[in-house]
Amino acid sequence: MASLKTKYLGLELKSPLIVSSSTLTGKVDAIKKLAEYGAGAVVLKSLFEEDIRGTEDIAVTEEIQPGTDLWVQNVGMEKKPASYLAFIGEVTRQVDIPVIASINCHSLEDWGDYVRYMKEAGASAVEINLAPMAEDVSFRSQDLEKQAVKLASRLMKELSLPLAFKIGSNYTSLPHFTAELGHAGVEGLVLFNRFWQPDINIEKMTFSTGIPFSAESELAETLRWTGLLSSMIKPQISASRGVHTPEDVIKLLLAGATTVQVCSVLYQKGLTYLQEMRETLENWMDAKGFATVDEFRGRVKTSLQQRREFYRQLQYTNPKG
Ligand SMILES: Cc1cc2nc3c(=O)[nH]c(=O)nc-3n(C[C@H](O)[C@H](O)[C@H](O)COP(=O)(O)O)c2cc1C
Repeated sequence: MASLKTKYLGLELKSPLIVSSSTLTGKVDAIKKLAEYGAGAVVLKSLFEEDIRGTEDIAVTEEIQPGTDLWVQNVGMEKKPASYLAFIGEVTRQVDIPVIASINCHSLEDWGDYVRYMKEAGASAVEINLAPMAEDVSFRSQDLEKQAVKLASRLMKELSLPLAFKIGSNYTSLPHFTAELGHAGVEGLVLFNRFWQPDINIEKMTFSTGIPFSAESELAETLRWTGLLSSMIKPQISASRGVHTPEDVIKLLLAGATTVQVCSVLYQKGLTYLQEMRETLENWMDAKGFATVDEFRGRVKTSLQQRREFYRQLQYTNPKG
């Protein structure tokens, strides 16, 4: 039987399947089930920068350390960061798979301490949910990217914890930006986030929320950039967005992903679908004679040059597939 063991962010995972940051990973019982169904790791829902503000007045002393019972008693359970840290502690005590905490940031304000608190609370790694917004015409793309790289360098210098950056796909030059993140020491890149979607109700003529789940057609962009970047940059790629079938998982591994994250499909088909994804991957590997994931990761049967040309193609001329 094929082994799905995978090394990601320096962690030993029993499978390359990771359940994305979302409410799917918000309860201990659900996480236990996900571990049983084959998740190699889970990413907890993000702690948002807004949640952190308002806890600045809490003194951290030798006794009152984040994540401890004393901390929770002192700050009160209504403070989200405190309950978040307590939740990390609870989950890590009850499951034997790595638990990746997630923190959202849109500014560079000094919330880096929380990454350390997450580590102290038991997180195996932290995913930085990077979501800068160019809010008006004064924002220059290169400034936003520079800020992100600066943040990465600072976090990498200050913390000894595996970090992944989860980004959206709207960057002008993903190869340059992601390579810079790699030079700053970022070990993993989650490509890509799918952000909250705005919509308008035309009957009521009011704002509404768009569809929260991805469509299968969104896989192609994830595949393109996983394929292209995995041969160019140092960080490992955790492919995310538009993964709806076990075959999608295999495609992304063939394109060079180290791990693959799933979210929408588990909301739509239930947590047990993860088991089907894992089993189909194992069966495919057995049928192809692969004993480990490393034996086929990034191994589409073409030259590196042909591969790059294929993923770079944007126009419907001379298809290279
Ligand atoms: C209900 C819901 C909540 C989510 N919350 C977060 C979050 O807190 N942090 C984050 O980084 N991504 C969050 N996401 C994005 C997912 O982690 C994932 O990146 C996205 O849905 C794309 O993957 P998919 O195509 O497999 O759904 C959320 C997605 C959904 C549907």
